Amino acid sequence: MSRPKVLITRKIPTPGIELLKTECDVEINTKERALTRSELLSMAADKDAVLCLLTDKIDAEFFDAVPNLKGVANYAVGFDNMNVSEASLRGIPMSNTPEVLTEATAEMAWALLFSVARRIVESDLFLRSGQWKGWGPLQYVGTGVSGKTLGIVGPGRIGTSMALMSRGFNMKILYSGNRKNNLLEKELGAELVSFSKLVKESDFISLHVPFWAETKHMFSASVFKEMKKSSIIINTARGAVIKEDDLLDALVTGEIAGAGLDVYEFEPEVTENLKILNNVVLTPHTGSGTIKSRDDMSVMAAVNILAMLKNEKPPQCINPEVFE
Ligand code: GLV
Ligand code: GLV
Repeated sequence: MSRPKVLITRKIPTPGIELLKTECDVEINTKERALTRSELLSMAADKDAVLCLLTDKIDAEFFDAVPNLKGVANYAVGFDNMNVSEASLRGIPMSNTPEVLTEATAEMAWALLFSVARRIVESDLFLRSGQWKGWGPLQYVGTGVSGKTLGIVGPGRIGTSMALMSRGFNMKILYSGNRKNNLLEKELGAELVSFSKLVKESDFISLHVPFWAETKHMFSASVFKEMKKSSIIINTARGAVIKEDDLLDALVTGEIAGAGLDVYEFEPEVTENLKILNNVVLTPHTGSGTIKSRDDMSVMAAVNILAMLKNEKPPQCINPEVFE
C-alpha cells in the first residue's frame, strides 16, 4: 500500500517531522519564507494532508486545489486563517495546537509588559550606542507593575495563564469576556467587568481574544480615549483586534502611555511610524516561541495529521461536526 503524502508548508521543529515520516511521505518547504499562494496550491495538490502555518490561507480555493485532502493541521492555536465552516461542509477535519503554547505566550505578554513599563529596549539602545556617561537619577525612569490593575481581555487559556502569573506582583485583576472564570475569581479575586469598565480602570491591558468578526478593531480611537493616559496595552493575540492607525495616534498624542506588540494588523507589514516611537516594543509574532513549545506544537500537529489520515477524529479537532 502506498504511504500517504503530507505537505509541511515551512520547516518546523524536527520531532513532528520525524513522527510524520514514520508513516508518511513528507514534503517540506525548505525556503526561508512562507510559500506563495501559487506554490502552496501546487505543492499541496497531490497531498493527502497538509500541516500549515497561520500565514497560509486555507479556504474554498485551497480545498478545490487539493482533491484527496483528508485533513489540515494548523501549526498555531489561532485558526483565523482557516475557513472552518467551508471545511466542515466538505467533511474535512482541521486541528490546531492549543495548550502546549499557553505558558509561552503568557510569558511573552509579561516580557512585553515589563519591557514597555521599564523601558528595556529603549535604554538598551541608549547604552549600546555609547551615550551612557554614568548613573543618573532621571535616566529611563519607568512605570511600576506591583499593586497595579491588570485588565485581561479574553480570559481563555492564555489570558488565564497570564493573569495567574501576576501572583507575585499583587495586582488587581479585572477581566472581560462572555463567561465567569471561576479559577481567576478564586485564585486572584479577579472581577468580571464590562469591557468599558476594564478599559477605563486598567493600568495594563492584555489582549487574549481570538480574531473574528466580533473582535476586529475592538480597540479603536474611541476606546483609546477611554483608557488611562498612563496605561499600557499588550497584544499577543491577533493584530487586527487593534486598529493600528488609531493606536499610533493614541500613542503619539499621549492618549495612552505605551504598547507592547507581538502581532500586527497587516502582518508582516508594521505601521511605519510605530517603529520610531520610544514607548513601543515590537516583536515579530514570537509569542509561542520557546524551544519546548514549538517542539510540542510540531508533535501535536503531526499526531493530529496521523489521525486524520486514518479518518479518525484528531485529538485537537476544531470542527468535530465532521465526525457527527
Ligand atoms: C500564534 O499566533 C498562534 O495562534 O499559535
Ligand atoms: C486561545 O485559544 C487560548 O488558548 O487562550
